Amino acid sequence: MTKPAPPATESGAHASGQPTVVPADCAEILVTEEQLATRVRELGAQITADYAGRRPLLVGVLKGAFVFMSDLARAIDLPVEFDFMAVSSYGNATKTSGVVRIVKDLDLDLDGRDVIVVEDIIDSGLTLKYLRTNLAARNPASLEVCALLVREGQQVGDPDLTYMGFEIPPAFVVGYGLDAGEKHRNLPYICRYVGDEPLEH
Ligand code: IMP
Ligand code: MG
Repeated sequence: MTKPAPPATESGAHASGQPTVVPADCAEILVTEEQLATRVRELGAQITADYAGRRPLLVGVLKGAFVFMSDLARAIDLPVEFDFMAVSSYGNATKTSGVVRIVKDLDLDLDGRDVIVVEDIIDSGLTLKYLRTNLAARNPASLEVCALLVREGQQVGDPDLTYMGFEIPPAFVVGYGLDAGEKHRNLPYICRYVGDEPLEH
């Protein structure tokens, strides 16, 4: 079931050529498809300049980062390489405890590499804190983080992001890789989720 997006947040035509509609369990669009495309191009240009002459290794945190990472990589005009990691955090459904378990580890050796961790959203920042410590111990030449979204005012300490897409209000969001109970990852925009699926992450 879909319904038209509220007029104030309509972003024009979807890439399919159809007007933007949001699913029934979603509310307003917080970041439009156009805003995403523009910001991803800017981040790509910034990374291209910062890493000139180098071969950065993009480390995507599955599953949420896969859409962002795919677009970001194509906005970087350098010979990038890819690896992926999957983590799951212990704790209840809606709050990260900060105790993270690696579900899928990297395939590549980080020794001497210029690593850019690509994350979907920084909420408490605890997942990122764990990842940073874990990856830094593998002796990379450099380790920076590129996060698409940061939820305003929720972080325990400074997440220290070199590259950041957008700050969003404290609402649960889906789309552009982010899910609610595995749903809505393929929405081309970021919108507020108002359904009652378990908000697990
Ligand atoms: P943190 O450890 O509290 O920073 O949690 C970060 C992780 O929780 C992200 O990588 C996401 O997988 C998930 N997450 C946090 N907020 C949202 C949201 O609004 N939508 C979907 N996933 C989220
Ligand atoms: Mg994630």
